[in-house]
Amino acid sequence: MQKSAMLYEGKAKKIYDTDDQNCFWVEYKDDATAFNGVKKGTIVDKGIINNKMSAMMFKYLEGKGIETHFVELLNDREQIVRRLDMMPLEVVVRNIVAGSLSKRVGKDEGYVLASTVLELYYKDDSLGDPMVNETHAQAMGWASIEEVETMKKIALRVNEEMAKLTAKAGITLVDYKLEFGKANGKIFLGDEISPDTCRFWDTETKEKLDKDRFRRDLGKVEEAYVEVYSRLKEAVENA
Ligand code: C5P
Repeated sequence: MQKSAMLYEGKAKKIYDTDDQNCFWVEYKDDATAFNGVKKGTIVDKGIINNKMSAMMFKYLEGKGIETHFVELLNDREQIVRRLDMMPLEVVVRNIVAGSLSKRVGKDEGYVLASTVLELYYKDDSLGDPMVNETHAQAMGWASIEEVETMKKIALRVNEEMAKLTAKAGITLVDYKLEFGKANGKIFLGDEISPDTCRFWDTETKEKLDKDRFRRDLGKVEEAYVEVYSRLKEAVENA
C-alpha cells in the first residue's frame, strides 16, 4: 500500500490517504496537548507507545468479537486503519470518578461507581467539546438514536474486555474515551486506545499511569506510558 497526501493533522496523529480506497495511513506523533490545547508539550516516544498499544488493544478487542478500524501495524509510529466516516462524538466510559466528573458532581477522585457511566460529547474544539445526549445527536444529524445505542452497546463490551485485561495487569481502568465511525453503513470502533485517552491507575499504589501525569505536571510521564504498555502487553500475551 502507498501513502499519499496528508488529509488531516490532529493533536496526536496525522492521517494520510492511501491508494486503497478502504484504508487510511495513520502516523502517531509525540505532541501532547491538554485542556483543549491550552497546555502543549512533547512526551518523548509517546507516538511509539500509543501506536503499538492501540494496535495491540484493537487486535485484542477484535479477538473478542468487537469490530474496530485496525488493519495492520506498519512500524513503530504508523499503522493502517479502515477508512471510516467518523461520527463527531466522543463516548466517555467511566468506572471510577475522576477528572471532569469529579468536578461536575463534587465527588472525590477514586469514588467507585455502582455501575458504568457513559457520556457523550460533541467533538468541537472551538466549543470545548460540550457534553450532549442522544437527542442532541439525532436532532443535529450527528448520529441517530439507534446509532448512539449501538455505540453505547459496543462501549460496554469494550469496557468488559478492557477491565478484565487491565485487572490482570494490576491496573485499574478508571475512565476512557472512545470514538466511532461508519463504513458501508456499519459502525466500527476507531481512533485510539492509549494512555492519552484512558485513565489507568496502578491498582495497589493508585499511582497514575496515564496522561494525567502530563496534565498535572506529576513527572515521570514517559516512564508511566512505557510501564502501562509493557504490563498490558504481558497480560495480552498471557491471555
Ligand atoms: O476530562 P474527563 O475527565 O472528562 O476525561 C474522561 C476520560 O476521557 C479520560 O480518560 C480522558 O483521558 C479521556 N478524554 C480524551 N479526550 C477528550 C476528553 C476526554 O481522551 N477530548
